[in-house]
Amino acid sequence: VHAPASKTPPPEQTLPARWYWDDSIFERELEQIFTPSWHLVGATAELSSPGDHLVARAGIVPILVTRDLRGELHAFLNICRHRGHPVALSSGNRKTLQCSYHAWTYDLDGRLKTAPRAEREPCFPTSSLGLVPIALDVWRELVFVNAHPDGRSLIETHPALNTIADELRLDLSGYRYFTKSSAVVQANWKAWFENVSECYHCSTLHAQTFADAWEVAPDAYRFICEDALIAQVAARNAHGRRLPEGTERLRQLHIWPGSFISVDDTLAFAGAVTPLTPQSCEMTSYVYVRRGVKSESIASWLEMYDAALREDVEAVERQQMSLRSNRIPYGHLMPASELAVAHFQRMVRSALKEPFAAD
Ligand code: FES
Ligand SMILES: [Fe+2]
Repeated sequence: VHAPASKTPPPEQTLPARWYWDDSIFERELEQIFTPSWHLVGATAELSSPGDHLVARAGIVPILVTRDLRGELHAFLNICRHRGHPVALSSGNRKTLQCSYHAWTYDLDGRLKTAPRAEREPCFPTSSLGLVPIALDVWRELVFVNAHPDGRSLIETHPALNTIADELRLDLSGYRYFTKSSAVVQANWKAWFENVSECYHCSTLHAQTFADAWEVAPDAYRFICEDALIAQVAARNAHGRRLPEGTERLRQLHIWPGSFISVDDTLAFAGAVTPLTPQSCEMTSYVYVRRGVKSESIASWLEMYDAALREDVEAVERQQMSLRSNRIPYGHLMPASELAVAHFQRMVRSALKEPFAAD
């Protein structure tokens, strides 16, 4: 739903500062942006054997993905049917899943197996108290879930996904799964998403890290915005001091609202940013390493990305404090340099349905 033309804000006007801390905006975002979308929650590498399961969140919704003993994948709400405690607290491998609150025990295909003292209850409905299944899709070794599906698959929701991914060679098949990392950011999820949707900040904030590695000049660093997909491509900085040999191009794709894949010729990252509260979010990332790359190159390259990530986290947390003071209601965007931020902000406005009532 678009706002009437007369109310459309000028393209350089940012979202209101209030939208970065207000509870009612946050509630609307959960309902209208996060709940009805696909989220990247993991890598099939974490679910290769029967009994493997992983715990994640899709927005704020707790999720459990299992590979059952016959080898089939399932996704469920990670919410016990008894009184709502999470069924699994961490990822791992087990034959059954037992809630650690009152010990209700579920099979990996979601069926409730036993509930202590159930025999003392007349007509306890064991068979109808299984875990609640949700939609699951596997795309290029990555696991996506949707807790409120409209019946469309990931690809039906994002028809350009394969075309863009092919063009950017977003393919993890030459890579091996290395590790998982996550960071809590004390800022609204949109501030984080906007940070990763522009490279206007790269030459200042990341002068020694990201900008030393990649060519960040405005005409060299390319963005492609296609509905809910935002892609970025960068070439190596010819003067970069620590690029691993053979590392030529960085390709990144963000899938609305929070999932991302970032691939270069040495490392790949896939993950998501998920909101925690109006003023905090969590960035989870599955890290992959290109097969055959020497471990020294991997270590120093990972260090570069980690240092750039810290620079981003610190900047966005400082920005959050200023936004929260609410002294300046709107910022001034630079749409020529912040094309994808402008695109993202239009999508947020449009997803929140009554876009300007809360301004
Ligand atoms: S909430 Fe899970 S067993 Fe009680
Ligand atoms: Fe950055």
